[in-house]
Amino acid sequence: MRVLLVSLLLCVLALGCRARRKSAHESDSSDCGCLNNGVCISYKYFKIRRCSCPENFIGEHCETDISQKCYEGNGHSYRGMASRDIRDKTCLKWNSPLLASQKYNANHPDAIQLGLGKHNYCRNPDNRKRPWCFVQVGRRAYMQDCKVPQCPTEQGFQCGHKSMTPRFKIVGGNRTPIENQPWFAAIYRRHLGGSSSFNCGGALISSCWVISAAHCFPKLKMGESYFLYLGQSKLNSETLGETRFEIEELILHENFSTGAIAYHNDIALLKIRSRTGKCAEPSRTVQTICLPPAYGDVPIGSECEVTGFGFEEQNDYIYPEYLKMAVVRPISYRECRQPHYYGSEVTPQMVCAAHPEWTSDACQGDSGGPLVCPTDGRMTLVGVVSWGLGCAEKNKPGVYARVSHFLPWIRAHTGPI
Ligand code: ARG
Repeated sequence: MRVLLVSLLLCVLALGCRARRKSAHESDSSDCGCLNNGVCISYKYFKIRRCSCPENFIGEHCETDISQKCYEGNGHSYRGMASRDIRDKTCLKWNSPLLASQKYNANHPDAIQLGLGKHNYCRNPDNRKRPWCFVQVGRRAYMQDCKVPQCPTEQGFQCGHKSMTPRFKIVGGNRTPIENQPWFAAIYRRHLGGSSSFNCGGALISSCWVISAAHCFPKLKMGESYFLYLGQSKLNSETLGETRFEIEELILHENFSTGAIAYHNDIALLKIRSRTGKCAEPSRTVQTICLPPAYGDVPIGSECEVTGFGFEEQNDYIYPEYLKMAVVRPISYRECRQPHYYGSEVTPQMVCAAHPEWTSDACQGDSGGPLVCPTDGRMTLVGVVSWGLGCAEKNKPGVYARVSHFLPWIRAHTGPI
Protein backbone atom coordinates (compact mmCIF):
# COMPACT_ATOMS: atom_id res chain seq x y z
CA MET A 1 0.00 0.00 0.00
CA ARG A 2 2.72 2.40 1.05
CA VAL A 3 4.89 1.54 -1.92
CA LEU A 4 1.99 2.19 -4.18
CA LEU A 5 1.21 5.55 -2.64
CA VAL A 6 4.83 6.68 -2.82
CA SER A 7 5.13 5.60 -6.40
CA LEU A 8 1.93 7.32 -7.29
CA LEU A 9 3.15 10.52 -5.73
CA LEU A 10 6.50 10.32 -7.47
CA CYS A 11 4.92 9.62 -10.72
CA VAL A 12 2.49 12.47 -10.44
CA LEU A 13 5.10 14.93 -9.20
CA ALA A 14 8.08 14.31 -11.33
CA LEU A 15 8.24 11.36 -13.59
CA GLY A 16 4.95 11.32 -15.36
CA CYS A 17 2.81 8.24 -15.83
CA ARG A 18 2.24 6.72 -19.15
CA ALA A 19 -1.23 5.70 -20.11
CA ARG A 20 -1.66 3.65 -23.23
CA ARG A 21 -4.74 2.37 -24.84
CA LYS A 22 -4.46 -1.06 -26.34
CA SER A 23 -7.05 -3.52 -27.36
CA ALA A 24 -7.28 -6.82 -25.61
CA HIS A 25 -6.46 -9.05 -28.53
CA GLU A 26 -3.12 -7.48 -29.23
CA SER A 27 -1.91 -7.54 -25.68
CA ASP A 28 1.74 -8.40 -25.38
CA SER A 29 3.68 -9.27 -22.26
CA SER A 30 4.41 -5.63 -21.47
CA ASP A 31 0.73 -4.76 -21.68
CA CYS A 32 -1.85 -5.13 -18.94
CA GLY A 33 -4.37 -6.69 -21.33
CA CYS A 34 -7.17 -4.33 -20.35
CA LEU A 35 -10.57 -5.22 -21.79
CA ASN A 36 -13.59 -3.02 -22.48
CA ASN A 37 -11.59 0.09 -23.34
CA GLY A 38 -9.67 0.00 -20.08
CA VAL A 39 -6.48 2.04 -20.18
CA CYS A 40 -3.15 0.49 -19.18
CA ILE A 41 -1.33 2.68 -16.72
CA SER A 42 2.30 2.03 -15.96
CA TYR A 43 4.41 3.93 -13.49
CA LYS A 44 7.82 4.74 -14.84
CA TYR A 45 10.73 3.17 -12.92
CA PHE A 46 8.33 1.04 -10.88
CA LYS A 47 7.16 -2.32 -11.97
CA ILE A 48 3.53 -1.49 -11.41
CA ARG A 49 0.96 -1.73 -14.12
CA ARG A 50 -2.77 -1.68 -13.83
CA CYS A 51 -5.89 -1.08 -15.85
CA SER A 52 -7.92 2.02 -15.31
CA CYS A 53 -11.48 0.94 -16.14
CA PRO A 54 -14.34 2.90 -17.67
CA GLU A 55 -17.56 3.31 -15.73
CA ASN A 56 -19.41 0.06 -15.01
CA PHE A 57 -16.32 -2.11 -15.47
CA ILE A 58 -14.20 -3.51 -12.67
CA GLY A 59 -11.56 -6.19 -12.18
CA GLU A 60 -7.87 -6.50 -12.90
CA HIS A 61 -8.53 -6.38 -16.65
CA CYS A 62 -11.83 -4.43 -16.51
CA GLU A 63 -13.41 -7.75 -17.40
CA THR A 64 -16.45 -7.51 -15.12
CA ASP A 65 -19.46 -5.45 -16.14
CA ILE A 66 -21.36 -4.43 -13.01
CA SER A 67 -24.31 -3.26 -15.09
CA GLN A 68 -25.11 -6.75 -16.47
CA LYS A 69 -28.07 -7.91 -14.42
CA CYS A 70 -29.20 -10.66 -16.80
CA TYR A 71 -27.65 -12.87 -19.46
CA GLU A 72 -28.30 -12.94 -23.20
CA GLY A 73 -28.59 -16.13 -25.22
CA ASN A 74 -26.80 -18.88 -23.31
CA GLY A 75 -24.82 -16.39 -21.24
CA HIS A 76 -21.44 -17.15 -22.82
CA SER A 77 -20.80 -13.42 -22.90
CA TYR A 78 -22.26 -12.78 -19.44
CA ARG A 79 -19.75 -10.75 -17.39
CA GLY A 80 -21.99 -9.64 -14.52
CA MET A 81 -21.58 -10.35 -10.82
CA ALA A 82 -24.20 -13.00 -9.99
CA SER A 83 -22.45 -15.48 -7.68
CA ARG A 84 -25.08 -17.84 -6.29
CA ASP A 85 -26.41 -21.11 -7.61
CA ILE A 86 -30.09 -21.89 -8.07
CA ARG A 87 -30.27 -23.11 -4.46
CA ASP A 88 -28.76 -19.83 -3.28
CA LYS A 89 -25.44 -21.42 -2.38
CA THR A 90 -22.43 -19.16 -2.81
CA CYS A 91 -20.22 -20.02 -5.76
CA LEU A 92 -16.58 -20.98 -5.31
CA LYS A 93 -13.98 -18.63 -6.66
CA TRP A 94 -12.60 -19.81 -9.98
CA ASN A 95 -9.12 -19.76 -8.42
CA SER A 96 -10.18 -21.89 -5.44
CA PRO A 97 -7.74 -24.74 -4.75
CA LEU A 98 -10.76 -27.08 -4.88
CA LEU A 99 -10.97 -26.43 -8.63
CA ALA A 100 -7.32 -27.13 -9.38
CA SER A 101 -8.13 -30.32 -11.29
CA GLN A 102 -11.15 -28.92 -13.16
CA LYS A 103 -10.98 -28.02 -16.81
CA TYR A 104 -12.47 -24.59 -16.22
CA ASN A 105 -10.77 -22.55 -13.54
CA ALA A 106 -8.80 -19.32 -13.25
CA ASN A 107 -5.76 -21.07 -14.72
CA HIS A 108 -7.45 -21.95 -17.98
CA PRO A 109 -5.26 -20.70 -20.87
CA ASP A 110 -8.16 -18.58 -22.14
CA ALA A 111 -9.31 -17.53 -18.67
CA ILE A 112 -9.47 -13.82 -19.51
CA GLN A 113 -11.45 -14.34 -22.71
CA LEU A 114 -13.80 -16.74 -20.91
CA GLY A 115 -14.36 -14.36 -18.02
CA LEU A 116 -12.72 -16.64 -15.44
CA GLY A 117 -10.46 -15.16 -12.77
CA LYS A 118 -9.99 -14.47 -9.09
CA HIS A 119 -13.70 -14.12 -8.44
CA ASN A 120 -16.76 -16.30 -8.00
CA TYR A 121 -19.10 -14.82 -10.61
CA CYS A 122 -21.25 -17.13 -12.71
CA ARG A 123 -19.92 -17.78 -16.20
CA ASN A 124 -20.60 -20.07 -19.13
CA PRO A 125 -17.17 -20.78 -20.60
CA ASP A 126 -18.20 -24.06 -22.25
CA ASN A 127 -21.43 -23.00 -23.93
CA ARG A 128 -23.88 -24.80 -21.68
CA LYS A 129 -27.51 -23.72 -21.42
CA ARG A 130 -26.89 -20.89 -18.98
CA PRO A 131 -24.23 -19.41 -16.66
CA TRP A 132 -23.01 -21.76 -13.95
CA CYS A 133 -20.41 -22.05 -11.21
CA PHE A 134 -18.88 -24.55 -8.83
CA VAL A 135 -20.24 -24.86 -5.32
CA GLN A 136 -18.71 -26.75 -2.47
CA VAL A 137 -20.54 -29.76 -1.08
CA GLY A 138 -18.57 -31.54 1.61
CA ARG A 139 -15.03 -31.42 0.33
CA ARG A 140 -15.89 -31.51 -3.31
CA ALA A 141 -16.79 -28.98 -5.94
CA TYR A 142 -19.97 -29.44 -7.97
CA MET A 143 -21.06 -27.67 -11.09
CA GLN A 144 -24.38 -25.89 -10.58
CA ASP A 145 -26.60 -23.68 -12.68
CA CYS A 146 -26.69 -20.12 -11.45
CA LYS A 147 -29.42 -17.92 -10.14
CA VAL A 148 -29.35 -15.20 -12.75
CA PRO A 149 -32.21 -14.23 -15.05
CA GLN A 150 -32.14 -14.32 -18.81
CA CYS A 151 -32.65 -10.89 -20.33
CA PRO A 152 -36.13 -10.48 -21.71
CA THR A 153 -35.87 -11.00 -25.46
CA GLU A 154 -37.44 -8.41 -27.62
CA GLN A 155 -40.78 -9.79 -28.55
CA GLY A 156 -40.79 -11.20 -31.98
CA PHE A 157 -37.33 -10.31 -33.23
CA GLN A 158 -34.99 -13.19 -33.77
CA CYS A 159 -31.73 -11.53 -34.58
CA GLY A 160 -29.68 -12.77 -37.48
CA HIS A 161 -32.36 -15.02 -38.96
CA LYS A 162 -33.08 -14.64 -42.66
CA SER A 163 -36.57 -15.25 -43.88
CA MET A 164 -35.15 -16.42 -47.18
CA THR A 165 -31.78 -17.68 -48.34
CA PRO A 166 -31.15 -17.68 -52.07
CA ARG A 167 -30.64 -21.16 -53.43
CA PHE A 168 -27.48 -20.26 -55.28
CA LYS A 169 -24.23 -19.20 -53.81
CA ILE A 170 -23.63 -15.61 -54.72
CA VAL A 171 -20.12 -14.59 -55.58
CA GLY A 172 -19.04 -11.29 -57.00
CA GLY A 173 -22.02 -9.21 -56.02
CA ASN A 174 -25.56 -9.92 -57.01
CA ARG A 175 -29.08 -8.75 -56.58
CA THR A 176 -30.58 -9.90 -53.33
CA PRO A 177 -34.12 -9.80 -52.00
CA ILE A 178 -34.46 -7.93 -48.72
CA GLU A 179 -35.66 -11.17 -47.08
CA ASN A 180 -32.07 -12.36 -47.38
CA GLN A 181 -30.79 -9.26 -45.53
CA PRO A 182 -33.87 -8.15 -43.57
CA TRP A 183 -31.81 -5.98 -41.18
CA PHE A 184 -30.71 -3.71 -44.00
CA ALA A 185 -31.78 -0.08 -43.68
CA ALA A 186 -31.78 2.34 -46.63
CA ILE A 187 -31.01 5.85 -45.37
CA TYR A 188 -32.05 8.90 -47.40
CA ARG A 189 -31.50 12.62 -47.16
CA ARG A 190 -34.52 14.87 -47.60
CA HIS A 191 -33.57 18.11 -49.36
CA LEU A 192 -35.03 21.56 -48.98
CA GLY A 193 -37.43 21.47 -51.90
CA GLY A 194 -38.87 18.15 -50.70
CA SER A 195 -36.87 15.91 -53.02
CA SER A 196 -34.73 13.21 -51.48
CA SER A 197 -31.67 11.18 -52.40
CA PHE A 198 -30.17 7.93 -51.22
CA ASN A 199 -27.51 8.55 -48.58
CA CYS A 200 -26.11 5.40 -46.98
CA GLY A 201 -26.82 1.91 -45.68
CA GLY A 202 -27.48 0.87 -42.11
CA ALA A 203 -28.49 -2.15 -40.05
CA LEU A 204 -31.29 -2.70 -37.54
CA ILE A 205 -29.82 -3.87 -34.21
CA SER A 206 -32.96 -3.59 -32.08
CA SER A 207 -36.51 -2.45 -32.66
CA CYS A 208 -35.63 1.23 -32.17
CA TRP A 209 -31.99 1.43 -33.23
CA VAL A 210 -30.16 1.38 -36.54
CA ILE A 211 -26.37 1.40 -36.76
CA SER A 212 -24.52 3.12 -39.58
CA ALA A 213 -21.28 5.02 -40.32
CA ALA A 214 -20.55 8.45 -38.82
CA HIS A 215 -19.11 9.82 -42.08
CA CYS A 216 -22.56 9.37 -43.67
CA PHE A 217 -23.98 12.25 -41.64
CA PRO A 218 -22.43 15.61 -42.38
CA LYS A 219 -24.18 18.60 -40.88
CA LEU A 220 -27.45 19.24 -42.69
CA LYS A 221 -28.61 22.54 -44.13
CA MET A 222 -31.57 24.16 -42.40
CA GLY A 223 -34.74 22.35 -43.27
CA GLU A 224 -33.05 19.15 -44.43
CA SER A 225 -33.41 15.83 -42.64
CA TYR A 226 -32.53 12.16 -42.78
CA PHE A 227 -35.05 9.35 -42.91
CA LEU A 228 -34.87 5.64 -43.64
CA TYR A 229 -36.70 2.61 -44.91
CA LEU A 230 -36.65 -0.91 -43.57
CA GLY A 231 -37.68 -3.78 -45.80
CA GLN A 232 -36.71 -2.04 -49.02
CA SER A 233 -35.39 -4.14 -51.92
CA LYS A 234 -35.75 -1.46 -54.59
CA LEU A 235 -34.28 2.01 -54.31
CA ASN A 236 -36.71 4.94 -54.08
CA SER A 237 -39.70 2.66 -54.18
CA GLU A 238 -42.62 2.83 -51.85
CA THR A 239 -44.44 -0.45 -52.02
CA LEU A 240 -46.15 -2.62 -49.51
CA GLY A 241 -43.89 -4.27 -46.98
CA GLU A 242 -41.50 -1.43 -46.42
CA THR A 243 -41.80 1.10 -43.66
CA ARG A 244 -40.52 4.61 -43.45
CA PHE A 245 -38.96 5.92 -40.27
CA GLU A 246 -37.93 9.36 -39.13
CA ILE A 247 -34.71 9.76 -37.17
CA GLU A 248 -35.61 10.70 -33.63
CA GLU A 249 -32.00 10.84 -32.48
CA LEU A 250 -28.73 10.76 -34.41
CA ILE A 251 -25.66 9.89 -32.37
CA LEU A 252 -22.25 10.10 -34.03
CA HIS A 253 -19.22 8.64 -32.28
CA GLU A 254 -17.62 11.50 -30.38
CA ASN A 255 -14.13 10.48 -31.54
CA PHE A 256 -15.01 10.16 -35.19
CA SER A 257 -12.21 11.57 -37.33
CA THR A 258 -10.75 11.42 -40.80
CA GLY A 259 -7.18 10.22 -41.40
CA ALA A 260 -5.12 10.30 -44.61
CA ILE A 261 -7.46 7.77 -46.18
CA ALA A 262 -9.11 6.16 -43.17
CA TYR A 263 -12.09 7.09 -41.09
CA HIS A 264 -11.63 6.50 -37.37
CA ASN A 265 -14.49 5.53 -35.04
CA ASP A 266 -16.73 5.65 -38.08
CA ILE A 267 -19.89 4.56 -36.34
CA ALA A 268 -23.29 6.13 -35.69
CA LEU A 269 -26.58 5.20 -34.05
CA LEU A 270 -30.00 6.29 -35.28
CA LYS A 271 -33.08 6.06 -33.10
CA ILE A 272 -36.03 5.48 -35.38
CA ARG A 273 -39.73 6.31 -35.12
CA SER A 274 -42.46 5.61 -37.62
CA ARG A 275 -45.23 8.05 -38.49
CA THR A 276 -47.37 6.36 -35.88
CA GLY A 277 -44.66 6.85 -33.28
CA LYS A 278 -43.56 3.22 -33.18
CA CYS A 279 -40.26 1.43 -33.52
CA ALA A 280 -39.72 -1.42 -36.00
CA GLU A 281 -41.74 -4.61 -35.87
CA PRO A 282 -40.58 -7.98 -37.10
CA SER A 283 -41.83 -9.32 -40.40
CA ARG A 284 -40.57 -11.28 -43.38
CA THR A 285 -38.76 -8.17 -44.58
CA VAL A 286 -37.72 -6.65 -41.24
CA GLN A 287 -35.44 -8.39 -38.78
CA THR A 288 -32.65 -7.40 -36.39
CA ILE A 289 -29.01 -8.40 -36.83
CA CYS A 290 -27.19 -9.95 -33.84
CA LEU A 291 -24.36 -8.02 -32.23
CA PRO A 292 -21.10 -9.92 -31.74
CA PRO A 293 -19.73 -10.72 -28.29
CA ALA A 294 -17.40 -8.00 -26.95
CA TYR A 295 -14.03 -8.38 -28.66
CA GLY A 296 -15.21 -11.65 -30.17
CA ASP A 297 -14.17 -12.05 -33.78
CA VAL A 298 -15.25 -14.49 -36.44
CA PRO A 299 -12.41 -16.58 -37.88
CA ILE A 300 -10.26 -14.99 -40.58
CA GLY A 301 -11.53 -16.18 -43.93
CA SER A 302 -15.16 -16.70 -42.85
CA GLU A 303 -17.70 -16.37 -45.61
CA CYS A 304 -19.32 -13.02 -44.86
CA GLU A 305 -21.75 -10.81 -46.73
CA VAL A 306 -21.85 -7.10 -47.39
CA THR A 307 -25.03 -5.46 -48.62
CA GLY A 308 -25.95 -2.13 -50.13
CA PHE A 309 -27.23 0.12 -52.87
CA GLY A 310 -23.63 1.24 -53.63
CA PHE A 311 -22.00 1.66 -57.01
CA GLU A 312 -21.37 -1.40 -59.11
CA GLU A 313 -18.21 0.10 -60.57
CA GLN A 314 -15.80 2.58 -59.08
CA ASN A 315 -16.63 5.30 -61.60
CA ASP A 316 -20.38 4.87 -61.64
CA TYR A 317 -22.56 7.83 -60.96
CA ILE A 318 -25.93 6.21 -60.45
CA TYR A 319 -26.90 3.73 -57.80
CA PRO A 320 -28.26 0.33 -58.79
CA GLU A 321 -32.01 -0.03 -58.71
CA TYR A 322 -31.99 -3.18 -56.60
CA LEU A 323 -30.28 -4.12 -53.37
CA LYS A 324 -27.05 -6.01 -53.91
CA MET A 325 -24.89 -8.27 -51.84
CA ALA A 326 -21.33 -9.55 -52.16
CA VAL A 327 -19.46 -12.34 -50.42
CA VAL A 328 -16.21 -11.19 -48.83
CA ARG A 329 -13.85 -12.70 -46.28
CA PRO A 330 -12.27 -11.03 -43.23
CA ILE A 331 -8.53 -10.48 -43.57
CA SER A 332 -6.14 -10.50 -40.62
CA TYR A 333 -5.04 -7.22 -39.10
CA ARG A 334 -1.44 -8.15 -39.92
CA GLU A 335 -2.18 -8.71 -43.56
CA CYS A 336 -4.13 -5.47 -43.85
CA ARG A 337 -1.35 -3.49 -42.10
CA GLN A 338 1.20 -4.46 -44.77
CA PRO A 339 2.68 -1.43 -46.51
CA HIS A 340 1.32 -2.46 -49.91
CA TYR A 341 -2.16 -2.81 -48.37
CA TYR A 342 -2.99 0.10 -46.08
CA GLY A 343 -0.02 0.27 -43.70
CA SER A 344 -0.66 2.17 -40.51
CA GLU A 345 -3.95 3.67 -41.71
CA VAL A 346 -5.60 0.49 -40.42
CA THR A 347 -6.11 0.26 -36.65
CA PRO A 348 -7.42 -2.50 -34.39
CA GLN A 349 -10.81 -0.75 -34.34
CA MET A 350 -11.22 -1.71 -37.99
CA VAL A 351 -11.66 -4.98 -39.79
CA CYS A 352 -10.62 -5.54 -43.40
CA ALA A 353 -12.47 -7.86 -45.75
CA ALA A 354 -12.13 -8.75 -49.40
CA HIS A 355 -12.76 -11.39 -51.99
CA PRO A 356 -9.76 -13.72 -52.31
CA GLU A 357 -9.52 -12.88 -56.04
CA TRP A 358 -10.36 -9.20 -55.49
CA THR A 359 -13.47 -9.57 -57.61
CA SER A 360 -16.09 -8.19 -55.24
CA ASP A 361 -16.15 -5.48 -52.64
CA ALA A 362 -18.27 -2.73 -51.20
CA CYS A 363 -18.07 0.58 -53.08
CA GLN A 364 -19.16 4.22 -52.85
CA GLY A 365 -22.69 4.37 -51.51
CA ASP A 366 -22.38 1.17 -49.50
CA SER A 367 -21.10 3.05 -46.48
CA GLY A 368 -22.87 2.45 -43.23
CA GLY A 369 -24.13 -0.89 -44.49
CA PRO A 370 -23.61 -4.18 -42.66
CA LEU A 371 -20.85 -6.78 -43.01
CA VAL A 372 -22.45 -9.89 -41.54
CA CYS A 373 -20.94 -13.32 -40.87
CA PRO A 374 -22.46 -16.63 -39.81
CA THR A 375 -22.04 -17.74 -36.19
CA ASP A 376 -23.99 -20.67 -34.69
CA GLY A 377 -26.58 -20.69 -37.43
CA ARG A 378 -27.36 -16.97 -37.34
CA MET A 379 -25.80 -13.89 -38.83
CA THR A 380 -23.80 -11.45 -36.71
CA LEU A 381 -22.87 -7.85 -37.44
CA VAL A 382 -19.08 -7.87 -37.74
CA GLY A 383 -18.49 -4.57 -39.51
CA VAL A 384 -19.96 -1.32 -40.77
CA VAL A 385 -18.83 -0.28 -44.28
CA SER A 386 -16.38 2.59 -43.80
CA TRP A 387 -13.66 3.10 -46.43
CA GLY A 388 -11.42 1.58 -49.08
CA LEU A 389 -9.17 2.68 -51.94
CA GLY A 390 -11.10 2.20 -55.15
CA CYS A 391 -13.42 -0.79 -55.21
CA ALA A 392 -12.31 -4.42 -55.52
CA GLU A 393 -8.75 -3.29 -56.28
CA LYS A 394 -5.95 -5.77 -55.68
CA ASN A 395 -4.45 -5.46 -52.16
CA LYS A 396 -7.01 -2.79 -51.26
CA PRO A 397 -9.64 -4.52 -49.13
CA GLY A 398 -12.81 -2.91 -47.92
CA VAL A 399 -12.36 -1.53 -44.41
CA TYR A 400 -15.11 -1.69 -41.82
CA ALA A 401 -15.68 -0.30 -38.34
CA ARG A 402 -15.10 -3.32 -36.08
CA VAL A 403 -18.38 -3.67 -34.22
CA SER A 404 -17.03 -6.02 -31.51
CA HIS A 405 -14.82 -3.14 -30.33
CA PHE A 406 -17.68 -0.68 -30.00
CA LEU A 407 -20.11 -2.61 -27.82
CA PRO A 408 -19.67 -0.49 -24.68
CA TRP A 409 -20.27 2.62 -26.80
CA ILE A 410 -23.33 1.08 -28.46
CA ARG A 411 -24.82 -0.12 -25.18
CA ALA A 412 -24.14 3.18 -23.47
CA HIS A 413 -26.60 4.75 -25.93
CA THR A 414 -29.12 2.02 -26.59
CA GLY A 415 -29.26 0.33 -23.18
CA PRO A 416 -29.29 -3.48 -23.09
CA ILE A 417 -30.06 -5.09 -26.44
N1 ARG B 1 -16.66 5.54 -48.06
C1 ARG B 1 -17.50 4.83 -48.97
C2 ARG B 1 -18.93 5.37 -48.90
O1 ARG B 1 -19.11 6.44 -48.40
C3 ARG B 1 -17.43 3.35 -48.78
C4 ARG B 1 -16.28 2.84 -49.50
C5 ARG B 1 -16.10 1.38 -49.35
N2 ARG B 1 -15.11 1.04 -50.29
C6 ARG B 1 -14.62 -0.16 -50.48
N3 ARG B 1 -13.76 -0.33 -51.42
N4 ARG B 1 -15.01 -1.15 -49.74
O2 ARG B 1 -19.84 4.81 -49.44
